[in-house]
Amino acid sequence: MSTVFSGIQPSGTLTLGNYLGALQHFVGMQEEHDSFFCIVDQHAITVPQDKTELRKNIRSLAALYLASGIDPEKSTLFIQSEVPAHAQLAWIMQCVSYIGELERMTQFKDKSAGKSGVSSALLTYPPLMAADILLYQTDIVPVGEDQKQHLELTRNLAERFNQQYNDIFTVPEVQIPKVGARIMSLQDPDQKMSKSDENQKAYISMLDDDKTITKKIKSAVTDSDQEIRFDRDNKPGVANLMSILSLASGKDMAEIEKEYSGSGYGTFKEDTAAAVVELLRPIRERHHELMESEELDRILDEGADRAQRASFKTLKKAERALGLGRKR
Ligand code: AMP
Ligand code: TRP
Repeated sequence: MSTVFSGIQPSGTLTLGNYLGALQHFVGMQEEHDSFFCIVDQHAITVPQDKTELRKNIRSLAALYLASGIDPEKSTLFIQSEVPAHAQLAWIMQCVSYIGELERMTQFKDKSAGKSGVSSALLTYPPLMAADILLYQTDIVPVGEDQKQHLELTRNLAERFNQQYNDIFTVPEVQIPKVGARIMSLQDPDQKMSKSDENQKAYISMLDDDKTITKKIKSAVTDSDQEIRFDRDNKPGVANLMSILSLASGKDMAEIEKEYSGSGYGTFKEDTAAAVVELLRPIRERHHELMESEELDRILDEGADRAQRASFKTLKKAERALGLGRKR
């Protein structure tokens, strides 16, 4: 059975983009793969975090994974900082990374541009991500499009290590969904939907209530020609809403175009809002139950144990290949 690994940062409530671009696909994958899903809290501290908020976000993200359908009987769900091999292998991956290739990462350029006091960990974020993936001999990494460059680097680092030391790591494949890989901002459809957007109307949080979701979708930016057609270049706002409706309702683009031909944006937006409300309501309710439960802690304890056992083996192999420690 092939192995799947993916991670999400616990930095604020997830958006509909995270759900449609990542979580929703994880749920389908756990049926046929040995799956690991991680709450990457060590990645989150590459930028300053409030400790009370961070703790809350970690727990909330764990509950969101489960509420979205991650089944702890089928998948391993765990917190990165509770499995020490991640930071240990990350150090090793830093030793095979070049500063130049890390400086070329667009996420690093975006997050560091114009800022002073940028942490060195913002630069070495990708070797930690590579360690996350390589520790589990991962075959497939499902992520949104924004992570493609980090995955390319992970593959390069794995190949470089295998060539220079010993053939230890599986070189992973990235898997990006065809629709939904990039859900865009509702206010500026040229930007990706992001939880760090200053304008709250730009994104739908997975925990927004029904009324808020409806209001945000109704005020989404479109265009003035009243035609429902999937054209990402010329009609980015409408194309984005069509992607959302398609993923939330299961209808394909051709069906949507046909259904709303000549009917203007009003009904289309109402139906899109209704579909998102139906999609998120059960998740929000289950999330609420889980947050209060002891079940959540039990699942995370067990996940950390399983991840610990799986990752330790790979870490030891890598250390041996490098000549670290003593021969035993
Ligand atoms: P992050 O919130 O940056 O930790 O991302 C978690 C996962 O959600 C990654 O797989 C991202 O690629 C994906 N993701 C984040 N934002 C979006 C978006 N607007 N559309 C689609 N996928 C996204
Ligand atoms: N960098 C990813 C993001 O911001 C999160 C992440 C960390 C990740 N480690 C990972 C994703 C390993 C996939 C696999 O979205």
